[in-house]
Amino acid sequence: VTSENGQLYELYTEAAKLYHHMLVNTAQGEPSLEYLQKRGLDEQTIDLFALGYAPKTPLLLPYFQEKGTDYQLLRQSELFIVNDDGTLRDRFVNRVLFTIRNAQGQVIAFSGRSLEPNEQAKYINSPESKIFNKSKELFNFDLARQHIRRAKTVILFEGFMDVIAAYSSGLQNGVASMGTSLTQDQVRLLDRVTDKVLIAYDGDNPGQEATKRAISLLGQYAPNIQVQVVHLPEGLDPDEYLRKYGADEFVNVFSHALESPVTFAMRYLKKNRNLANESEKLAYIDDVLAVIATGQNPVERDLQLNQLVAEFGISRESLQGQLQQLILTNR
Ligand code: UTP
Ligand code: MN
Ligand code: MN
Ligand code: MN
Ligand code: MN
Repeated sequence: VTSENGQLYELYTEAAKLYHHMLVNTAQGEPSLEYLQKRGLDEQTIDLFALGYAPKTPLLLPYFQEKGTDYQLLRQSELFIVNDDGTLRDRFVNRVLFTIRNAQGQVIAFSGRSLEPNEQAKYINSPESKIFNKSKELFNFDLARQHIRRAKTVILFEGFMDVIAAYSSGLQNGVASMGTSLTQDQVRLLDRVTDKVLIAYDGDNPGQEATKRAISLLGQYAPNIQVQVVHLPEGLDPDEYLRKYGADEFVNVFSHALESPVTFAMRYLKKNRNLANESEKLAYIDDVLAVIATGQNPVERDLQLNQLVAEFGISRESLQGQLQQLILTNR
């Protein structure tokens, strides 16, 4: 199995080289290259992240067939779609490609971004394969690891472009969950290398909802990690924020726009609730207490409880009792 995986890694490495070549050296790749340049990426960044272009015409299939690569291996690789008659065709067609590497830096998958603004599937990802399980990988973990260790901090993004934008602005300790659902395996990966996570998900509703889930998952599976939330205004995502406000402002938010999970929760959980309504108010207090309960520091929890007491003028004793119960059930 190991040598079989070795052949798959080689296949992906070669595919990445071909796609990259298409992007930077061919006329077919020019619109994609211009697209990436318009999004602020320079040549060095495009090279470092091995960005590519999958053309409209077949690329990988004729190349690997010419080389005599085994059909079963090609089929297993998931780089191709299997036609009804068993023949193969290139999976990625006319897309800008992001190369996904594992923690060891081996190429294991691609994600293709549509160039058309209104395409239903903005990104198409490689499906699961022997070497790729999306829920266990974090985009850019291999390059970021040494920077995470040095800073004892990781920045957690949603998307490829967020990681790449941050990296080229000097924030090299960023990884992406590749979407909004952080997994238990990804949390465990982070737990091994960092003391602190800055969640920098998109400022839109799905991103904020995912922040809430990430806080609770981190609290559950990596209780020793300190968590802070980067609050981006106007529903922007990190990459959009960088383009709008520039690199200095961008870097600034990672030290100046940080919220504790509880501050985040108190702001966010209010949004779709009418706190003048008694039952909605109670539900809100329950939710905030649940976030406070995930904290490990008793002094910090105490201060946070004070915030709730001050906000609603409720008795401290009743909140304290409810909080203790939550802490006990979490253990
Ligand atoms: P977003 O919808 O926030 O996209 O998804 P984005 O990263 O801002 O992309 P741009 O800036 O429009 O190019 C966040 C991440 O979720 C995954 C991708 O990893 C994406 O970067 N995703 C999103 C998918 O896998 N498939 C999709 O259709 C959309
Ligand atoms: Mn998003
Ligand atoms: Mn986004
Ligand atoms: Mn979006
Ligand atoms: Mn974006």
